[in-house]
Amino acid sequence: MIITLTMPIQISNHPNLRVFEHPVIKDKLTRIRNAKTPPSAFRRLLNEIAGLMFFQMSRNFQTVEVPVETPIEKTTGFNLAHQLTLVPILRAGVGMTDGVMAMIPEARVGHIGLYRDEKTKQPVPYYCKLPKDIAKGPVLLIDPMLATGGSAAFAATVLTDEYKCKEIQMMCLVASPEGVEKMQAEHPNLLIYAASLDRCLNENGYILPGLGDAGDRIFGTI
Ligand code: PRP
Ligand code: URA
Repeated sequence: MIITLTMPIQISNHPNLRVFEHPVIKDKLTRIRNAKTPPSAFRRLLNEIAGLMFFQMSRNFQTVEVPVETPIEKTTGFNLAHQLTLVPILRAGVGMTDGVMAMIPEARVGHIGLYRDEKTKQPVPYYCKLPKDIAKGPVLLIDPMLATGGSAAFAATVLTDEYKCKEIQMMCLVASPEGVEKMQAEHPNLLIYAASLDRCLNENGYILPGLGDAGDRIFGTI
């Protein structure tokens, strides 16, 4: 049997994007896309993918050596060097947060509340609660959908301009080329990890083939 180590791969036209080429993630994403998948399974699968993605995304996190005393003897171990802050964009970002928290329960969670105006497609902010010293450590911006990119770009601007965050990555489930390009133009240093780069947006700003409205499918508000 040949075992291939599958890693996130870079899409050549998009230097700011890494897409996960992983069979388990692909399988779960296909179940999520299915319009017949109910909110309970949708939430479970979304959190499972988030955990799998985070495991890979965190492989370059810095560690520090620490002394540790086992039941037998003293030795040296490693702790993560910096405290991570997760920033889900309300509502749908909440649907991936538990999956990441299962991997790193010590992470802090700040929230940015935005909804997309149906006519203009522009993000409308309604809530923001972030740790004051969030810039001291890495930040993971979380939203399953990167469509026009308006919401993610707005949230990233809050983090960089108001909170002076320097180390930001984004986790999303499905990205559109339009959203990735907007992020490249406005936040070129922010690396985006996605389970899929989909084809395009439709006339209503929904991702094709996408999965519909993520917030509605997570919370059963269809
Ligand atoms: C969805 C999604 C993103 C945004 C993406 O949220 O969760 O935040 O749309 O679209 P964009 O890239 O074009 O900005 P929505 O506005 O539907 O709010 P909700 O999460 O409360 O449902
Ligand atoms: N928001 C969603 O939830 N889905 C899309 O396809 C686009 C924006």
